Amino acid sequence: MRFFLKLQLIGIWCINEWMRSGSPSDVRIVELGPGRGTLMDDVLRAFSKLKMRNVMSVHLVEVSPTLSEIQMRKLADPLEECLTSSNENWYQRCKSIHGPEVSWYKELSDVPKGFSFYVAHEFFDALPVHIFQKKNQVWHEMLIDVDDSIDAEHHLRFVLSFASTAASKLLLHKELENDCETVEISPQTGIIVENITKRIQEDGGFALIADYGYSGEKGLTFRAFRRHQLHHPLCEPGTADLTADVNFSYFKRIIDDRVTTLGPISQNTFLQNMGITVRLQMLLKNASPDVQESLISGYKMLTEPQQMGEKFKFFAFMQHRDEYIPAGFTPL
Ligand SMILES: C[S@@+](CC[C@H](N)C(=O)[O-])C[C@H]1O[C@@H](n2cnc3c(N)ncnc32)[C@H](O)[C@@H]1O
Repeated sequence: MRFFLKLQLIGIWCINEWMRSGSPSDVRIVELGPGRGTLMDDVLRAFSKLKMRNVMSVHLVEVSPTLSEIQMRKLADPLEECLTSSNENWYQRCKSIHGPEVSWYKELSDVPKGFSFYVAHEFFDALPVHIFQKKNQVWHEMLIDVDDSIDAEHHLRFVLSFASTAASKLLLHKELENDCETVEISPQTGIIVENITKRIQEDGGFALIADYGYSGEKGLTFRAFRRHQLHHPLCEPGTADLTADVNFSYFKRIIDDRVTTLGPISQNTFLQNMGITVRLQMLLKNASPDVQESLISGYKMLTEPQQMGEKFKFFAFMQHRDEYIPAGFTPL
């Protein structure tokens, strides 16, 4: 319920852009890292009364067997058989409760090509980063070492590499002009963004990325959360979620010459441009007092600057088209 308004508007964003693209008759919704399947459930609900429902298929890229099971339980029509496969590109497939077929893949390159919407919500911030720090004008990679000192707090510690590393040789040259003292680079992000860009160039479509992120310089953003509280990343490794904010200028730098990029803009700006306040008022009219309370607190969390309104960003890219601006990136 917390994210309901936002997830519905992401669905409406896809419908709007599909219609503006001439309503192609075979369209894929590809979600990277669907978590508990909430976004796709809300998106499919938004589609369920529309013509688009009959021409679309859903493709989920998920590496976690546990989460893919949870997603299947949320999305699958309980009256239909779900299939699993080890010799197809997909590893799981079902008919969704809202109609369209849903397939699961371990990686994006397995997803069939064609006009697609690529949606990633809090996905890129979960991908691993290499961290580099400048000391006395020399870049070093931040590594993890055993801490065997008597007063060691976590038995592990961060250290700076003595010499250059394979990652610093391969990745750092693009960042050297950067004036900041700390740089985080995610090669996996680069590979996935490149892959989406190539697909969009060849077959058309849109990517909508929503994540904690920044443009330009930010420094060290790598951190851990356990039960929604900040947690030391080296304390009991494996028990906390690790995250690093997404550097959208890195996205732009690698794809700007091949596709049109929009943003990043704050979540508040995107949602206001998409009409979140009007949508809230419509939903409040027929809601019970409990639901009203939860809709209003969700709205505040999504839009207020000190909550997610400013820190969370939206970024989009698409095939070059003259003077075309997707919804949300300019006031409706
Ligand atoms: C932080 S969760 C975000 C979940 C959801 N999108 C949301 O906003 O609530 C990250 C998701 O990405 C998945 N994931 C992480 N690394 C991945 C990878 N390399 N390929 C595909 N999925 C991945 C996780 O299993 C999880 O479903």
